[in-house]
Amino acid sequence: MKENRLLGNAVRESRFPPSLFFVYLIVLLLMSGIHTGLLVGMSELGWDDFAQTAVPILYWGTVAVGLTLFTRRQIKKTYEEPMHRLAEATKKVSEGDFSVYVPPLHTSDKLDYLDIMIADFNRMVEELGSIETLKTDFFSNVSHEIKTPLAIIQNNAEMLCREELTQQQRQYADTIFLGSKRLAELISNILKLNKLEKQTIAPVVEAYNLCEQLAECALNYEPAWERQGLEFDAELEDYAEIFADPALMELVWNNLLSNAVKFTEPGGKITLTETSDEEAIRVSVRDTGCGMTEETKKHIFEKFYQGDTSHSMAGNGLGLSLALRVLQLGGFGIEVESELGRGSVFTVIIPKEKKEALPGHE
Ligand SMILES: Nc1ncnc2c1ncn2[C@@H]1O[C@H](COP(=O)(O)OP(=O)(O)OP(=O)(O)O)[C@@H](O)[C@H]1O
Ligand SMILES: [Mg+2]
Repeated sequence: MKENRLLGNAVRESRFPPSLFFVYLIVLLLMSGIHTGLLVGMSELGWDDFAQTAVPILYWGTVAVGLTLFTRRQIKKTYEEPMHRLAEATKKVSEGDFSVYVPPLHTSDKLDYLDIMIADFNRMVEELGSIETLKTDFFSNVSHEIKTPLAIIQNNAEMLCREELTQQQRQYADTIFLGSKRLAELISNILKLNKLEKQTIAPVVEAYNLCEQLAECALNYEPAWERQGLEFDAELEDYAEIFADPALMELVWNNLLSNAVKFTEPGGKITLTETSDEEAIRVSVRDTGCGMTEETKKHIFEKFYQGDTSHSMAGNGLGLSLALRVLQLGGFGIEVESELGRGSVFTVIIPKEKKEALPGHE
């Protein structure tokens, strides 16, 4: 037996494993013993030539099938299953889950190359996780520290706007007020997203009437669509009960409605639809706005991504990331259809059987 040192770990590497040798020896002796026994038995019984040829062929065929199945099982157990586990873990990491851990296959005195690979994978995931924590903690600490001075700037700018000012001074004060308001929204969205990602916001799940919530959210946008000369249509049922956190779901509807308003030119139309069947409740926000290219559509749920640069002054590309996170926490889905220059449809799917599953996401 030879010990190989790989990245500080001792790896067992045996050119001639005695246990395997003895297993093969015993099996082969047993098989050939049975073969001889078969030949002797058949000639004593006076079987004809055909039977004396066919039976050994059949016997060795059965042995070959047994050995094939045994080898296949060994390959599956020692190579394919660990690789499959590793592939699943890698997929989870690529989706941002750094809590995965793949257990080693052997104890520390019997490590092989696969164990070393698994140990290194676990170490890499741990490192990535700690970098991610450091990054999000840094963001959330800095955002928290900025919040108070920002609120002071915003309040003072607001007060300044109320004073008698020259046109030029008013313009400066307005710019400071709008700039600080935008920054405050950004900070509050970053903090909210961080909390949702780290699950420090525990959803307060309750059963409530979704239709009423949708109608209220739509009404809040009335001044916005009137100001922009948009037509608005709502097709809602009277009652549809869902089991979710109303405050978090309000974030989703507000983000979808605000996007529809923002990305639709005057004269366009926004339609809010809610339907339900036995399987799910579906809420769609349809607009006849600028739509998206296929490339934009691929990235809209990424943090800070803004596809349409002409509108990027408004918002900071966190709305849909927040909405997606809220929906994931609730076990709900979202679908997007969009055509450049024709409009977009965002559809939220709330499965009915999720009622019982939801509290587990808390
Ligand atoms: N209804 C829509 N029509 C066309 N493009 C859209 C629509 N909704 C979203 N998008 C595209 O997706 C991008 C990301 O949307 P998201 O809501 O995350 O950010 P935002 O609206 O730009 O900023 P924020 O939501 O932070 O105010 C947008 O910048 C836009 O390019
Ligand atoms: Mg948005």
